[in-house]
Amino acid sequence: MDYSYFMTDVAKRRRPATTRELTKIAYSAPKSTISLAEGMPNEETFPFTEISVKLCDGSSFTLDDDELAAALQYIPTQGYPPLLQALREFQRRAHAPPLWESRDIVVVSGSQDGLSKALEAIIGTGDPILVPDPFYPGVEVVISPHKAELIMIPQDDDGPIPEILRETLRNRELSGGKMPKLMYINATGTNPTGIIIPLERRKEIYRIACKYNFLLLDDDPYHFMHFDKEEPKSFLSLDMEGRVIRLDSFSKVISSGIRIGFMTAAAPLIACIELHLQSSHLHAPTLSQVIMHKLFKVWGYEGLMQHYMRLRRYYKERRDIISTLAHKHLNGLAEFNVPRGGFFLWIKVPGIKDTWKMMQRGVTEGVIMVPGAAFMRNPTKCSNAIRASFTKASYEEMDLAMERLAQLIRVELAENYIENIDT
Ligand SMILES: Cc1ncc(COP(=O)(O)O)c(C=O)c1O
Repeated sequence: MDYSYFMTDVAKRRRPATTRELTKIAYSAPKSTISLAEGMPNEETFPFTEISVKLCDGSSFTLDDDELAAALQYIPTQGYPPLLQALREFQRRAHAPPLWESRDIVVVSGSQDGLSKALEAIIGTGDPILVPDPFYPGVEVVISPHKAELIMIPQDDDGPIPEILRETLRNRELSGGKMPKLMYINATGTNPTGIIIPLERRKEIYRIACKYNFLLLDDDPYHFMHFDKEEPKSFLSLDMEGRVIRLDSFSKVISSGIRIGFMTAAAPLIACIELHLQSSHLHAPTLSQVIMHKLFKVWGYEGLMQHYMRLRRYYKERRDIISTLAHKHLNGLAEFNVPRGGFFLWIKVPGIKDTWKMMQRGVTEGVIMVPGAAFMRNPTKCSNAIRASFTKASYEEMDLAMERLAQLIRVELAENYIENIDT
């Protein structure tokens, strides 16, 4: 595949930073090589002598001497090499991606970092991009300064509707419109709707991507946060042509403050992202990468999967509680589907055109939730939905929040009713 077709002119003009390339060479050179190339501070001057980490299962590890020095130092942009190796093994096992030899991985500072870099590698000024409606707002903040054209694909309870996607692309082609080079997808536990795109639909979307020659950017931080019995099969595992850019994040499953995610894609695309990283923050935080590598070593693949299983149980119980409480307080006022994955309950209020004003009032009434318009395209933002997170509040707080939301809705409906009578 000719990946240069997908890249913006800016991305194609990026050149390697010599110093970063030398760091890469020095890192893998034999011990006998003397490098005076890099502007690295001497680790002896750092105030830290040991970092000890205790894990929730009672195990622990310590970083000291050479390992601590490595953890506090600059590293090659692509990532801490032992972590990269662990991630490669992890991806092979978790997704068994076809064409594995042609793919590569880069460590990024959370999936938002990977997302913005992938979008900026492909979406130039005025370029079209396919986006499910509604969608994660972290996409729009990246591409709206580039005046990208958002082609919104409506969703049903199973995600973006393939028939509409196909029809939209067919019409565009017939009318000679600029064809999109990328579709943004958030396939599992979608933020904000909590859906999981079923396998058949994933395959159908992938077939359409092949037919109309666009890449699929699967931003999948909730992949392991599904509440169905069946493991979702990732787009990466279906990718026979090398057109999937997969974003993983440790934010939801290990720690969000550790700021580590990773991107898996065709090697030329990863090389392009690496150049962008060289010019921005050089590399994702080394200490976080070393800690993640240690965790991989201590727990192994099975241990990590057991941890993810525990998280699923934990959040599933919370999902069940918030669904029960929403049912208790919002019955007859609002509608929602029980989320099948992720962190959010997507509530729709049929009697209200736009929830924005109501949720602004919520701030002073003691309940904060995100108005649905935050997940719509600008400037047509208007939505009767609300996103409620079920991850952190206690069950008592959730109960109170739903009660307060119900009261806000009643007041809003009553005000609308009076306005309608007056006009
Ligand atoms: C769909 C989606 N993508 C990306 C992110 C950003 O995650 P990270 O912390 O890995 O940057 C989030 C966080 O809420 C998200 O929901």
